[in-house]
Amino acid sequence: MTGNAKRDLTSASLDPRNADEWRAMRAPGHQILDDMFDHVEHVRERPVWQAMPDSAREALKAPLPRAAGTLGDAYQTLQQAVIPYTVGNPHPGFMGWVHGAGTPSGMLAELISGALNANVGGRSQAPVELEAQVGRWMTELFRFPDAARGVFVTGTSSANLMGVLVARTATLGPQVRASGLAAEALSGLRAYTSIEAHGCIAKAMDMAGFGADALRHVATDAHGCLDPLELQRQLDVDRAAGLSPFLLVATAGSVNTGAIDPLDQLADLARQEGSWLHIDGAFAALGMLAPDIAPLLKGIERADSLAFDFHKWGQVPYDAGYFLARDGETMLDTFAAPAAYLQRADSGLAAGSVWPCDLGPDLSRGFRALKTWLTFQVHGADAIGAAISANCALARRLAAMITAEPELELLAPVSLNVVCFRYRRGDVERVNQLNRDIVLTLHDEGQVAASSTVLQGRYAIRAALVNHRTGLTEIATLVASVLRAGRRLSLSPANTHA
Ligand SMILES: Cc1ncc(COP(=O)(O)O)c(C=O)c1O
Repeated sequence: MTGNAKRDLTSASLDPRNADEWRAMRAPGHQILDDMFDHVEHVRERPVWQAMPDSAREALKAPLPRAAGTLGDAYQTLQQAVIPYTVGNPHPGFMGWVHGAGTPSGMLAELISGALNANVGGRSQAPVELEAQVGRWMTELFRFPDAARGVFVTGTSSANLMGVLVARTATLGPQVRASGLAAEALSGLRAYTSIEAHGCIAKAMDMAGFGADALRHVATDAHGCLDPLELQRQLDVDRAAGLSPFLLVATAGSVNTGAIDPLDQLADLARQEGSWLHIDGAFAALGMLAPDIAPLLKGIERADSLAFDFHKWGQVPYDAGYFLARDGETMLDTFAAPAAYLQRADSGLAAGSVWPCDLGPDLSRGFRALKTWLTFQVHGADAIGAAISANCALARRLAAMITAEPELELLAPVSLNVVCFRYRRGDVERVNQLNRDIVLTLHDEGQVAASSTVLQGRYAIRAALVNHRTGLTEIATLVASVLRAGRRLSLSPANTHA
């Protein structure tokens, strides 16, 4: 090898090249770590959300940098154009969508994960064992049998897709993976969920090849819970028409109002029908950690499969979704794939019988388990459960404040942590537009950020309390801000957002 070729080979490394360069990188690195601690510690001092100015958007339109830059310069761009303009879910005033807040320990876990850069698809390595440990914790928490297995995925949308796929394989047998669905789809397999189910269930049916039309949306009761009598009626109609129910998707914590379907009754029905019971417990499943919420989830332990997120009520940084099946073999039947280069050895790096890539769709996968493990280790499951209880207590308090206030109207019963209400003074014709404008005003003011939904044609301001930092101050601010904005906007002739 010539001297030049040698130099070319060594200079391809992206690492600092010597001790001085490593030292030079540590200085901004320590600064960034310090700044990020400040960012979390002083989260209350910033607005929940602020619109991204044009200058920030422009800063992110630069072409692909061909030449090297400095960490300092890149970090400056982040400080100016990115860091101030996120959705704001770590802020205690964030009560918009069902987003977890994260923790400083979760932040550090991401740093450790970055350094290890573990590909947790499989092989003989501790990260695989650590993920398995989290799986055993979840098996215990949800009182699943020892044969259960679980796997981390991006979020509940993916985990719900896995639920549909595992139910498909359990119903039709593993050969469906080769033959595909065409013949069986014609035979009329049907799935059932409530009209309040998250949209990702229909999307999962679509992506799994059944088509969203193969999903029946069953009516709910006054509390937003799937009505088992309605379900039974629909099942009877479909069976009489020669269709084949194969999957029942129950919701534990609906996205609109936090309603929990009658899980025990639905487990009975699923057993009676010979259907797979999958539960979408995106945020509320971890209510099992809270002694006052766990009883509301009775029946969750009877699910065939369960989808939920640690990045919501588990307060683990994004993303950390989870899929758990009561019989782990069904996951292997659905996802394990023989490939020569993935063959297992008796010892060495390629040892181990079941790898995470056998249990889900991903081969290469990050170390989501680490931030989850560290969050439980540092805070303890009880503290996470206490934060969940506190969110629900705050939701009840908010509901009471709304009920006591003549200008406000509660639009749905509060079963958990989601409160839907509206301002109702002034022109009734314009009440939906007025409340839409109130929500936009809250976002612009940046003190508290609620979201919205539509319940029986009524536009609702929706406060989803998921953040462990949210307290009485924030819900009092929400009520005061809605009243202030409502009074001002209802007096303006066009009720337009100002
Ligand atoms: C009930 C329910 N199911 C599914 C999802 C989707 O979860 P993810 O955003 O993690 O994919 C959500 C999100 O809020 C949800 O509330």
